[in-house]
Amino acid sequence: MTRTPKTFHVKSFGCQMNVYDGERMAELMAADGMVATDDANAADLVVLNTCHIREKATEKVYSDIGRLRKYGKQGDGGPMIAVAGCVAQAEGDEIIRRAKVDVVVGPQAYHNLPRLVADAAAGTPTLDTDMPLASKFGALPARRKVGPSAFLTVQEGCDKFCTYCVVPYTRGAEVSRPFAAIVDEAKALVDAGAREITLLGQNVNAWTDGERGLHDLIRALDRIPALARIRYTTSHPNDMTQGLIDAHRDVEGLMPFLHLPVQAGSDRVLRAMNRSHTRDSYLTLLDRIRAARPDIALSGDFIVGFPGETEAEFAETLRLVDAVGYAQAFSFKYSPRPGTPAADMDGQVAAAVMDDRLQRLQTALNRDQHAFNAATLGRRCDVLIERRGKLPGQWLGKSPWLQSVHIVGDHAIGDLIDVAIAEAGPNSLRGTPAIAQAA
Ligand code: 5AD
Ligand code: SF4
Repeated sequence: MTRTPKTFHVKSFGCQMNVYDGERMAELMAADGMVATDDANAADLVVLNTCHIREKATEKVYSDIGRLRKYGKQGDGGPMIAVAGCVAQAEGDEIIRRAKVDVVVGPQAYHNLPRLVADAAAGTPTLDTDMPLASKFGALPARRKVGPSAFLTVQEGCDKFCTYCVVPYTRGAEVSRPFAAIVDEAKALVDAGAREITLLGQNVNAWTDGERGLHDLIRALDRIPALARIRYTTSHPNDMTQGLIDAHRDVEGLMPFLHLPVQAGSDRVLRAMNRSHTRDSYLTLLDRIRAARPDIALSGDFIVGFPGETEAEFAETLRLVDAVGYAQAFSFKYSPRPGTPAADMDGQVAAAVMDDRLQRLQTALNRDQHAFNAATLGRRCDVLIERRGKLPGQWLGKSPWLQSVHIVGDHAIGDLIDVAIAEAGPNSLRGTPAIAQAA
């Protein structure tokens, strides 16, 4: 039986790179003649673009598959289901066995999605988790229509092998896309409506092409006239070069925001994590970055309850947070991932202890986020309008420091407007159009 899908829906979980991959898969299927739909339950084909970073993320995939079978398109064998992303890469065969989906496609193979879907439509499940040497990017259609803030993958994979992390296994070794291909894609994104581009990579600041480093790429993109803002994420402390720090001082379009995960505050834990930086080297690095760009907003990732973490070691994480004053941050309970060294380490921490530590850490991080927001009260800054707010006439945009800003007025998506920050809450700001000073 052949059941060629006419409509599709892509649902992405996890990181921003998955969001980017999901957009590219949608473009690919649209170019193949399928029509996108917002309603997963009405689609002939649903692509679940999965995340494998923590346990819960994996479980979500199986419950989503169950939900689609129950509430998704009925008749003709139900919706076709394709599992993409890092769970597909890590558990390909297992997914086909356990959940009987139609297609499994890994993050380095999704340029083959239309062919895999066509093969599966003929009746047999298909799987492609190859990591070919030739990059998928050359096989993807050009960018067409994007929002004012767009993602652009410049680097994939990771060679760092932090002992808790699956990324080096699911995304493979560090690979950088060529300079010219990235500049071309950035120009296409700008032509398609982007005013801000966030360069993505699991180790984005390890990006390189010959002699060039990420700062050279940022300086080149800053010369694209209609591109107002450049961001990049996620960075590793060890790849934070002087050139990149200098770019934060010199490049006007590079936003004053840096996501620089530290994970933990204790040197023993950092060593066990194989982080290859210490608490002190991280703090010294932040001093250098702040000297170059004093108003930079810092963000980070934290793991509590890494195997063997004592209360005293956790307290060092809290002290590091106090010392840095993050503008925002993500924090997670350690989750043992199959095949990673930490999963087999002694001293796995009890769930209740992790809950307690996570709560204390998040209390500190929320306090600092609110304080950071409060410190922008009364300041003037540009806000890039990204979408409508919930109330009539309300718009939602981002400050240079990546805060969400609500504004009421006669604006449009993509406007870059000068506002004064009038109110600061824990999670967002309210801005009013700035009154230009009389000359
Ligand atoms: N358990 C908990 N958190 C993890 N992260 C990565 N692997 C794990 C894990 N096994 C977190 C790290 C990383 C972020 C993307 O996810 O903090 O920076
Ligand atoms: Fe995972 Fe560490 Fe690589 Fe980040 S640097 S992707 S945490 S292994």
